[in-house]
Amino acid sequence: MSLRPGSGRAIRLAPSILAADFANLGAEIAAVARGGADQVHVDVMDGHFVPNLTIGVPVVKSLRKATTLPLDVHLMIMDPDRYLEPFIDAGANLVSVHVEVLPHLHRTVAQIKKLGAKAGVVLNPSTPVMAIEEIAADVDFVLVMSVNPGFGGQVFIPHTINKIQRVRALLDRAGNPAPIEVDGGIDLSTVESVVTAGADWLVAGNAIFGGGNAEQAARTLKAKAEAVSR
Ligand code: DX5
Ligand code: ZN
Repeated sequence: MSLRPGSGRAIRLAPSILAADFANLGAEIAAVARGGADQVHVDVMDGHFVPNLTIGVPVVKSLRKATTLPLDVHLMIMDPDRYLEPFIDAGANLVSVHVEVLPHLHRTVAQIKKLGAKAGVVLNPSTPVMAIEEIAADVDFVLVMSVNPGFGGQVFIPHTINKIQRVRALLDRAGNPAPIEVDGGIDLSTVESVVTAGADWLVAGNAIFGGGNAEQAARTLKAKAEAVSR
């Protein structure tokens, strides 16, 4: 399977606010925007699909007023269909849903688009690439989890590298240039292999908000990713 260095594709950095200071979200987002962030990754967790509980529609509504960057809402919840409209009405531009909870994924993807957002499908580390074979032509992006969802600050699962390559091959076979987003454990030590494998959009929480200077951390991580993609 061929790697994709030097393809010159556009890398987008999606800082995950899960690792930010929730009492200062406006300032945290402004900082990463100055550092070159391209979209804001919002991790919505329900305490059922994943063990953790995080944020909901009202926070997305407030974020919408705080930034002009696209809001990239990752729904880690059992029944995402119920919440598509509220999240998109609140200002979500990109909405990703887990294939593991959706028996009618085609309908869900169509619904996200109909509501005016870009539709992403997410694969857990143990979910085979084949699970999105029949929907590959229809998605606006694919999100490959490189940790088990539920928490920030986990260790990157190396097998993801091979999986990114196989998702790219599947999308290419379907004639879909849709980007691949990768989420979990991305930092200065893992970003090179992730981008080389074909990742276009990079989610990073701890690597950006975990130190003292989110602006600089965003700038450094994006610069490294762009250097690899060139
Ligand atoms: C995990 C979330 C991730 C998480 C990434 O369930 O989907 O977006 O915030 O955090 P880091 O980059 O710290 O692994
Ligand atoms: Zn996420």
